Amino acid sequence: MIPVIAIDGPSASGKGTVAQRVADALGFYYLDSGSLYRLTALAAFRADIPLDDAKALTALAGNLQIRFENGEILLSDQNVTEDIRSELCGNRASRVAAVPAVRAALLARQRGWRRAPGLVADGRDMATVVFPDAILKVFLTASVEARALRRYNQLKDKGNPANMSDLLRDIAERDLRDQTRAVAPLQKGMGAQLLDTTQLTINQAVDQVLEWAKSALVSSS
Ligand code: DC
Repeated sequence: MIPVIAIDGPSASGKGTVAQRVADALGFYYLDSGSLYRLTALAAFRADIPLDDAKALTALAGNLQIRFENGEILLSDQNVTEDIRSELCGNRASRVAAVPAVRAALLARQRGWRRAPGLVADGRDMATVVFPDAILKVFLTASVEARALRRYNQLKDKGNPANMSDLLRDIAERDLRDQTRAVAPLQKGMGAQLLDTTQLTINQAVDQVLEWAKSALVSSS
């Protein structure tokens, strides 16, 4: 059985950076499942599909032409690596992700990432729905204020405009939508280890997950 490490958590919790670094350290593949919802939202925007048209969104999600190449993300051969990271696209993704049939359409694609020697997958429902047999489940979170500040610094570092009170409001709104949707809501599932990174550096968070991962790998072998 190919081992999976599932890292779930809310927006801007740092789970993407932590998951990528844990995958690199273990020589595992890395799945950023949020990118699939972001890509669906971007494709819908470009095709003028309204976010309440569940049928059209589902057909779109099932037929996305996506390639992940050397850290770049291509949608129908166009490089959209930066485009999908905007706050606007994140908000749209959160709405697209609330459509149950869209989630179902993306399920097989996500499971297809499970390849030897192993996978680190990050998202909202990695441990609860997509990889319930993950050998390690981590719920990585931080306070809303800490997450808004991290996002603020990221945006500023890239020379983008950023407003702290808008970020606080957007993150809180997305948390609420992701936590209260009917299908696969964001939640700490049974058996998940809680990692609150409010007071931790990225290195400390990575070290903690690696320590858990190494002992899970030993006990599962
Ligand atoms: O992790 P992220 O910010 O890139 O995710 C974008 C949106 O996609 C987020 O608001 C919720 C949704 N999402 C989801 O519902 N399930 C996942 N496994 C990953 C992301």
